[in-house]
Amino acid sequence: MAVPVIEVHGAKIPAIGMGTMTLKEKICVDAVSAALRAGYTSLDTAERYGNEEWVGEGLRASGVSRDKVFVTTKVYVDKLAPADFDQSVDESLKKLQLPFVDLLLIHWPSATVPMSDQIASLCKAKRNGLTRHVGVANFTVAMLDQAAKLTTEPLVTNQIEVHPFLDQSKVLAACKKHGLSVTAYCPISRGKVPGAEVLERIGKAHGKSSSQVSLRYLTQQGIIPIPRSSNPDHLKANLDVFDWKLTDAEMAEIGKLHRPDGRVVNPPHHPEWDV
Ligand SMILES: NC(=O)c1ccc[n+]([C@@H]2O[C@H](COP(=O)([O-])OP(=O)(O)OC[C@H]3O[C@@H](n4cnc5c(N)ncnc54)[C@H](OP(=O)(O)O)[C@@H]3O)[C@@H](O)[C@H]2O)c1
Repeated sequence: MAVPVIEVHGAKIPAIGMGTMTLKEKICVDAVSAALRAGYTSLDTAERYGNEEWVGEGLRASGVSRDKVFVTTKVYVDKLAPADFDQSVDESLKKLQLPFVDLLLIHWPSATVPMSDQIASLCKAKRNGLTRHVGVANFTVAMLDQAAKLTTEPLVTNQIEVHPFLDQSKVLAACKKHGLSVTAYCPISRGKVPGAEVLERIGKAHGKSSSQVSLRYLTQQGIIPIPRSSNPDHLKANLDVFDWKLTDAEMAEIGKLHRPDGRVVNPPHHPEWDV
């Protein structure tokens, strides 16, 4: 089944993408190429992942035409000062061997570079044709409010950690208010979903795995998961989340699985989270 798209301010974002963090060299090239041949239409990378050259190589090796793939990259928190920002984007494009990406994100908000500079650099990259769309990642409610006032280009997504074990209701509501889609990183809680009792039980009722249940839980809410895998069977299974449905009762039960220690990604430079 073809991956549906989510339209946001003119961007047609595939409803699921492939995460590539930690994938390097031949493993990365082979996984990206296999994913695209299996039907993925979206790749998520970042300057920080140190794998853009292999993501680009995997894209070319797949034989899938460039215009059929939505490529996202990001500018890391230590590259957000204006001159560093421009250089980071140039280097990403060189490594990917692409003239532009489809989506450029601020990877983590900076506490030292003024928000006005961060957003201005992002918007300039779009105006200069280096990206078709722009967005943010790891932005809190307050930061979304601030960015919405500053930006001259529509922000199309906020990429944040979302999975059944983390309550992100406040920031999800803020994304909705400002018209941003939500991209879910760690959508299977970085491997903690397999084995989770409730998700396994619900999966069994549908003939699906707990990972597929977690991904379906997100896509059914219009959230865009970007699961990472280098396993061809997992890559294929993770795409199989569009032609079946969780019941309202199952959605509600999964919605109660969040817990205070559910967050997986919390580096020292994290902003003050909303929960
Ligand atoms: N913006 C940010 O700050 C940020 C932060 C973190 C991540 N990200 C992005 O989000 C992507 C996804 O997050 P993540 O990689 O941290 O975590 P994740 O996708 O939740 O989990 C990845 C792990 O799940 C396993 N897995 C995948 N599919 C599976 C399946 N069907 N059954 C069983 N196990 C499965 C993978 O192992 P196998 O390889 O064995 O399948 C891998 O160990 C990243 O790769 C990156 O692109 C962004």
